[in-house]
Amino acid sequence: MAPQVVLITGCSTGIGLATAVCLAAEKQHEFKVYATMRNVGSKGKLEAAAGDTLNKTLFIRELDVTKQDTISSLVDEILRENGRIDVLVNNAGFSGVDGIDKRSIEWCQSMMDTNYWGVVRTTRAVLPAMKKQKSGRILNVTSVSGIIGTPFYATYASSKFAVEGFSESIAAVLRDGYNIRVSIVEPGPVATELMAKLVANQEGHTEGFDDKLKEMYLARAKNIRPLLKAVTQSADEIAKLHLEIILSENPHLRYQTSPAMNKMVADKLKDTTTDALLDALKR
Ligand SMILES: *[C@@H]1O[C@H](CO)[C@@H](O)[C@H](O)[C@H]1NC(C)=O
Ligand SMILES: *[C@@H]1O[C@H](CO)[C@@H](O)[C@H](O)[C@H]1NC(C)=O
Repeated sequence: MAPQVVLITGCSTGIGLATAVCLAAEKQHEFKVYATMRNVGSKGKLEAAAGDTLNKTLFIRELDVTKQDTISSLVDEILRENGRIDVLVNNAGFSGVDGIDKRSIEWCQSMMDTNYWGVVRTTRAVLPAMKKQKSGRILNVTSVSGIIGTPFYATYASSKFAVEGFSESIAAVLRDGYNIRVSIVEPGPVATELMAKLVANQEGHTEGFDDKLKEMYLARAKNIRPLLKAVTQSADEIAKLHLEIILSENPHLRYQTSPAMNKMVADKLKDTTTDALLDALKR
């Protein structure tokens, strides 16, 4: 059987890197992985992690989810070389603390452009081929912040809510009309550079905050640190789940990545007023 052709965004570190390496090294099933990143100058870590899969089952390419031409030209290249594209993993994204009205609109829009519009652009680029094939898998990596609001991360959570809303809305149409299966993967905290940056230098995140906001932010950051630590997962765990979803014959629409995250989401969904959530989020 021909290998499944996979395109993954955001592979210079973290979940994207781990997923690319996990699929490329898979022995039971064959994958041909196009592992992409915004700036191919940052490929060092991925190259090292890829080992001897490099240029055999793992191919590193530049793709900036905010630049349509970089997406189109890579999708064209993949289709030229393989005649098909089986799996898209929308993983590229970034996060950052915001103090509600303390970040510029431009900052907020640029996060939305990568985390939401980036997913839309990339998905639209692969859909024509997947529709023609009448098969395809699209995985959107969001976050538990895509279903539960997160104090001081309003823009990030909004970008992930947007991806969730879009995904949920189109999933049935793509499944029933074209045999394209969409899944949303909702990790909680994952030990990645993105997380490390957020946890380091807490004072630095509060630039421009008024005193009340700063006090609330720092207290929360301190309180949730042990909680976060207790539920933090490795990027490899998320990568294994991605493999499982891709191989699953009948994938779910949504996956939480740990029992702790599963409980958080279940607690929200069972209370349709979500009043209890406001207190839970105070922690
Ligand atoms: C892999 O391919 C790229 C070009 O696509 C090339 O620059 C690089 O040297 C190759 N690396 C190995 C280890 O073959
Ligand atoms: C992922 O999200 C994008 C944009 O929100 C959407 O176009 C796509 O269909 C979604 N895919 C899945 C598998 O949920």
